[in-house]
Amino acid sequence: MAPFELHAGDLVVRAFRASDAGELVRARDDAEISRWSNSSPVPYTLADAREFIDLATAGLADGRAYGGAVTAAATGALVGSVVLHSVDPEAHTAEIGYWSAPWARGHRVTERAGRALLEWGFHRLGLARVDWRAAVGNHASRLTGLRLGFTVAGVVPAHRRPRDGARVDEWFGWLLPGQLTPPGWEVPDWVRRTAYAFGRPPPTLPAGPVTLRPPAERDVPGLAGTMADPDSIRWFGGSSRPARLAEYVRTDVPALWARGEEAVFAVADRDDACAGTIDVRVRCADPAVGEIGCVVAPDARGRGYATEALRAVSAWSFAALGLRRLEWRAELGNPGSRRVAEKAGFTIEGVAQAGLGRDDGRHDCWVAALLPVATTGKRGAA
Ligand SMILES: CC(C)(COP(=O)(O)OP(=O)(O)OC[C@H]1O[C@@H](n2cnc3c(N)ncnc32)[C@H](O)[C@@H]1OP(=O)(O)O)[C@@H](O)C(=O)NCCC(=O)NCCS
Repeated sequence: MAPFELHAGDLVVRAFRASDAGELVRARDDAEISRWSNSSPVPYTLADAREFIDLATAGLADGRAYGGAVTAAATGALVGSVVLHSVDPEAHTAEIGYWSAPWARGHRVTERAGRALLEWGFHRLGLARVDWRAAVGNHASRLTGLRLGFTVAGVVPAHRRPRDGARVDEWFGWLLPGQLTPPGWEVPDWVRRTAYAFGRPPPTLPAGPVTLRPPAERDVPGLAGTMADPDSIRWFGGSSRPARLAEYVRTDVPALWARGEEAVFAVADRDDACAGTIDVRVRCADPAVGEIGCVVAPDARGRGYATEALRAVSAWSFAALGLRRLEWRAELGNPGSRRVAEKAGFTIEGVAQAGLGRDDGRHDCWVAALLPVATTGKRGAA
């Protein structure tokens, strides 16, 4: 049988050869692959490369895997790898795996080679579904998967990483025949931009008298005091237990960021003391929309902190995340919250009946919204 070979424009997807071992080491002994790969040993040695090539060759021979090296058609240079592995010939399913060499990143090599291999898999193997997985936080891989048409459906927690036994959360997705995107297809702007933003460390945003920065454990005592305040409990809810808040800061906030679901900022005063928090949550059912929540410490109220924080977070949400609409919900009877939204340029659109869920049931609320165009020329909108 002729070795596997597939032409994809200026790229070729072909079986790995023994002579690829040196280049394989150069490509895979790389910080990004070490960080995100499930199986790549760290460091990656020549012995690892040879063992991998033997396994890949065996997989091709017995029909468990197809694909292999991605090379430049013009030069033959190795630029990455795409593989359909875990092929189940009875269920007609497979899983895609890919990486690109550090020197080839940013040129859509994986997307183009992946599209050719997937098309081949659907037509030649009659695949009925291809699965996709990536470690939560690997936004470059997720973006590549989305551009190929994969539906990223959710998070599988505590997956055991074969390489070192560590437990990592994984995104899971699938592609069905007919869902493969055509060349040049692009995800919506806000999907692309949220991937760029959440794929990098959280920023620090100037906001007039305050600074918005990632919450830290040193903020927990202040936050506990803020959350224990009767008005915070009445209008905001949430726990004021220091242990829970410490866990929230240490675990939940970074996890929400890694998943691209929510950005949580501490509102820090001039002495870097935490005067509250503000967060923007990307709406799951409509990821062009962000929902904002904010709480300010009782002794820091009345100084315009919430308004300035809201202006800054709104400007960032439009510029960095590409969101098309921001919502602020203020419970009826909480005119202070409504006023913050108005001062930051939000339009009160009306009352949503039972629009706010709390531990004690659902409450009516004002819905205020801001669109990107409305921020132009407003303070803090640059
Ligand atoms: C994921 C990977 C295979 C993508 O391959 P590639 O051929 O370089 O992909 P692209 O050229 O299409 O670039 C991917 C996109 O992610 C973006 N991106 C890059 N780094 C990013 C990051 N840290 N966060 C978010 N997005 C990022 C790029 O800007 C690019 O988008 P653009 O085309 O709009 O500029 C490659 O980055 C890689 O090998 N990573 C390490 C190994 C890995 O993660 N494999 C997948 C395991 S599931």
